[in-house]
Amino acid sequence: MSQAKGSKPEHHQADAEPPEDRDESASSDSARRHFLISAAVATGVVGAGLAAWPFLASLRPSAKAQAVGASVSVDVSRLEPGEQITVMWRGKPVWVLRRTPAMLERMKHEHWVDDLRDPNSSVESQQPPYAQNPTRSLRPDIFVAVALCTHLGCVPLYRPDVAGEGLGEEWMGGYFCPCHGSKFDLAGRVVKNVPAPTNLVIPPHRYLRDDVLEIGADYA
Ligand code: FES
Repeated sequence: MSQAKGSKPEHHQADAEPPEDRDESASSDSARRHFLISAAVATGVVGAGLAAWPFLASLRPSAKAQAVGASVSVDVSRLEPGEQITVMWRGKPVWVLRRTPAMLERMKHEHWVDDLRDPNSSVESQQPPYAQNPTRSLRPDIFVAVALCTHLGCVPLYRPDVAGEGLGEEWMGGYFCPCHGSKFDLAGRVVKNVPAPTNLVIPPHRYLRDDVLEIGADYA
């Protein structure tokens, strides 16, 4: 629209502000937005943490149970395929892993089994009789093992990645001890030519219900 001659030019409110005021206003808006976004993210994180709490609590044995070395119960229905958790039993870390069908298949590969020192778990001290089988477990999908290397007791790393970096082309997934390089497969069976002399220890365990594992107790 054309401006009437001699009349004062009209200005919108924002246009009337000096440039330095506009800068302050923009930066204040930006700060407010930043605050609101940060608050929303923080609320989400806290909310997610609170939502996960009942699950984490259900996996953790009571302090009393740990202190007296009592058995420890774990609800394995919460484990995703391929997921592993660590619980403490008698002061030792114990892994509980839900193996996938692909993991179980890979453990059977002939060339892999040839590389194992004791594929049939012939050393009886390393597992209860009911775990003296190819998967070294009661249930093929659930693997339970004391998480201590049988060389000098370091805690091996969970390395399920096939042909994982630094582990060789033949690697089918398992555990790698960072202290002196011992390797174990996903049944805790030791690979030949490493310092560890035996397979990982399988602790006594049983199932109280379909998905409730008890570590530290045997079937009568
Ligand atoms: S403690 Fe694991 S290789 Fe030595």
